[in-house]
Amino acid sequence: MATIHTFFASRFGDAPDIVTSAPGRIEVLGNHTDYNGGTVVGGCIEKRLFVGITKRTDKTIRLTSSDPLSLDTPVVSSLSSYATDDLPDWTKYPLGILDELLMSTSLDAGFDLAVHSEIPTGEGLSSSAAIELGTCLALDAVFDLSLHLNQMIGLSHRAENRFVGVPCGLLDQTVVGRGKENALVVLDAGSGLHQVLPVGASFRLVVFRTHIRHELQHSPYEVRHRECRDAIMSLERLIPGVRHLARLHPADISAYDIVLNETLARRARHVVEEQRRVGQFLKALNEADLRAAGSLLSASHESSKSLFENSTPEMDFLVAALSANEQVYGARLSGAGWGGAVLALVSDSFLDSDANRLADVYQATFDVRPKWWRTTLHEGARRESH
Ligand code: GLA
Repeated sequence: MATIHTFFASRFGDAPDIVTSAPGRIEVLGNHTDYNGGTVVGGCIEKRLFVGITKRTDKTIRLTSSDPLSLDTPVVSSLSSYATDDLPDWTKYPLGILDELLMSTSLDAGFDLAVHSEIPTGEGLSSSAAIELGTCLALDAVFDLSLHLNQMIGLSHRAENRFVGVPCGLLDQTVVGRGKENALVVLDAGSGLHQVLPVGASFRLVVFRTHIRHELQHSPYEVRHRECRDAIMSLERLIPGVRHLARLHPADISAYDIVLNETLARRARHVVEEQRRVGQFLKALNEADLRAAGSLLSASHESSKSLFENSTPEMDFLVAALSANEQVYGARLSGAGWGGAVLALVSDSFLDSDANRLADVYQATFDVRPKWWRTTLHEGARRESH
């Protein structure tokens, strides 16, 4: 917290008026089901991104980030030119929020905004939703907009779809907006309704970061999105009114896959079976059967690997090595895939030495040591007091 104040002052000469923060998130289960009208389960991690903001008296916008890859002087734009100025890629996230806000509100002034993040980027932990929600809360506070959290989640999602240009579903923004301490967020993306599901101390998670960076922009994400849309459009001819892949039964895929080519049939089967697994996972949690819950995570990974093809050899290696440990209930890639983080549900007898040994084996194979940490579940985006 002190860091965002100091950082803001070092770039803009004074402390920010308002500070907000938003966490990274893990996707626990429900892989690529959100934009297919399905259910997803996620939670917020302890690593957060901080946004400092001060309203200006003119129409200038200045943006700066403490990321070592960013410029060490603020990027300068204005309320009238931000959409056409040639600006660094990361500024699309805060400016996407501005762009969405300006569709329904007019702002009488520009602002200085600084971002300082603890969330690793390119690791599938959704630093993008964190910057969106953090910015949204900051603009809401500094311009007295009184937006409801639901509006901010929707606005952040649309900003990513339109201004950033990634056709993501609602998972990241909902979890980052709605996360609670020691609880999972269960989102029914078909209706947009969510539920907060408390989990006990025995729900222990370990995150391993592969060294393969993942970006949603320019990734096969858009291709999968299109494949899922093509699959449902073909299936709708045989099952009128079905609209979402996640609403199908696994038997439907076998019965109707004559209208799908082999690739589309695999993508559709992943989504339909993943939706089933989410239901079984929630049931297992309800029965406090963590071993059953974990086995569904591993089944999800297997499906990602063979049907949805969004895994990597590094992720497969980590999941296989984790699964060989008796104290691991299950493991899977978390998030979009094609790099990023692997998540494991572990027993309380899974030791740091187990994780370190695994990191040794990974390093011996891939020449890079994966970072790992035990994560607990935390509160979502919020305004920070000074
Ligand atoms: C990314 C997207 C989400 C979701 C996941 C995959 O995190 O932003 O909307 O589609 O991938 O489940």
